[in-house]
Amino acid sequence: MDTTDRKRAEGALKQSELQLRQSQKMEAVGRLAGAVAYDFNNLLTAINGYSELLSKSLGNGHPIQETVHENRRAGERAASLTRQLLIFSRRQVPASRFLDLAINARDAMPTGGSLTIRTANVRLGPGHAGALFPVRPGRYVRLTVVDTGIGMDEDIKSHLFEPFFTTKPAGQGTGLGLSTVYGIVKGAGGNLSVTSGQGEGTVFTVSLPAASAPTASEQESDAETVAGPAHVAEAKRETVLLVEDEDMVRRLIAQALLSHDYNVVEAASGAEAMAAVESHVGVIDLLLTDVVMKGMSGRELSERMLARKPGLKVIYVRKH
Ligand SMILES: Nc1ncnc2c1ncn2[C@@H]1O[C@H](COP(=O)(O)OP(=O)(O)O)[C@@H](O)[C@H]1O
Ligand SMILES: [Mg+2]
Repeated sequence: MDTTDRKRAEGALKQSELQLRQSQKMEAVGRLAGAVAYDFNNLLTAINGYSELLSKSLGNGHPIQETVHENRRAGERAASLTRQLLIFSRRQVPASRFLDLAINARDAMPTGGSLTIRTANVRLGPGHAGALFPVRPGRYVRLTVVDTGIGMDEDIKSHLFEPFFTTKPAGQGTGLGLSTVYGIVKGAGGNLSVTSGQGEGTVFTVSLPAASAPTASEQESDAETVAGPAHVAEAKRETVLLVEDEDMVRRLIAQALLSHDYNVVEAASGAEAMAAVESHVGVIDLLLTDVVMKGMSGRELSERMLARKPGLKVIYVRKH
């Protein structure tokens, strides 16, 4: 009896069951990491903000300035770990920037080897083998990173994308690289696959949904364009115009607002705020302003703004 078809069907079933279990595990880890990171992020905003204020009020040359500085550095490091967890759990959309790629491939080839980076336009169908997430059929842009290094066994492969999973010595690996990749790619509606065996090198494939042909206006601002979902999320956020002449305090309040998902337009004076309103394209939902400032006072500013934008909500901030 020819059992080829049945065996193939069983194989496919097992594959999709593994995929499901893997994705449930990652969802659970993501929820936990996200919840912890969200609270820590808020706490760290306060810790770092107040260390900065403390440092400022002590002034240069104060004997404990160095101590406060160390405190601040540790706080910044904690905040950056927290940000990676927020990206993994897709609570934060990462900012785009240039990076020298490929640190994992380098680490996997301590005695040398070859690194290949390829890009391609591809079309994926639902049955795409090895994909980490169920594939939405369509056009994708693919980035492939191939190294000829030490490779990975099945055990490592099954933990690869978990935050804090690392096989590297302390101080060398954080285990947050691939979990960040996971969050970014999943958040962008893309897909990932890994092919690797012990001593056989590794192939990572990242597929990101292709954009349809850009319109003329999109082409102009191509450099700043971010992924679609981020735009949509941004459009729903409320915007606060924050006016505060003291840089540290303004930054602290801005960070706190950002961490609560508000858009923030910052201005260091009443005049700057008036100019910001002229150039800001979207709606301003709230004016949050210091009362006592050099030049235009908060009250004067709000009166001028209300004359232009009747119904604008205003909150005055008073520092002690
Ligand atoms: N190209 C690769 N070749 C072999 N192992 C890899 C490769 N990329 C990742 N790994 C394994 O996955 C683990 C997690 O990677 P990552 O999330 O980037 O964290 P880190 O690099 O800080 O350890 C690594 O410690 C390593 O064991
Ligand atoms: Mg890494």
